[in-house]
Amino acid sequence: MAVREILKMGDPRLLRVAQPVQAFGTPELLALVDDLHDTMVAARGAGLAAPQIGVDLQVVLFGFERNDRYPDAPPVPRTVLVNPVISTLSDAEDEGWEGCLSVPGLRGLVPRWSRIRYQGLDEQGRAIDREAEGFHARVVQHECDHLIGRLYPTRMRDLTKLGFTSVLFPEMDAQQSDD
Ligand code: NI
Repeated sequence: MAVREILKMGDPRLLRVAQPVQAFGTPELLALVDDLHDTMVAARGAGLAAPQIGVDLQVVLFGFERNDRYPDAPPVPRTVLVNPVISTLSDAEDEGWEGCLSVPGLRGLVPRWSRIRYQGLDEQGRAIDREAEGFHARVVQHECDHLIGRLYPTRMRDLTKLGFTSVLFPEMDAQQSDD
């Protein structure tokens, strides 16, 4: 259990396609999930993916009751998702502002599928199969993108909508926007 260093954009380890997890409930996997949790909480993140702490495995963690970095976002169930598969439930897209702990201090307007189904396993190998929409769907898509080497700026269609959080959202206090 430890707060780990979060890799930043430019580190080639963020560009890898992560390996699937083969063994569940192992001390190694449980320790990874603990580290993701501790690191996400310390950074006040809405989610964190294993590649962001340099671990080349298909593991993401997301969810919160209330998040300082996205004060208007509805709660998202706290979830460990391993070996995820996402499918779309409609052609509809939403645009929304995203940040990333690997892209500190910036926000960008990113199109995402509005409604998705996501499937995978938890750290014990129990199946997860959910439908999600809105911010929940956005978080899942953002985190799972980390498992295929994609950071949100590469999903943007209009780079004039990329900027510093402190400039775009001056009402957010420094603690919320310093990531
Ligand atoms: Ni991210």
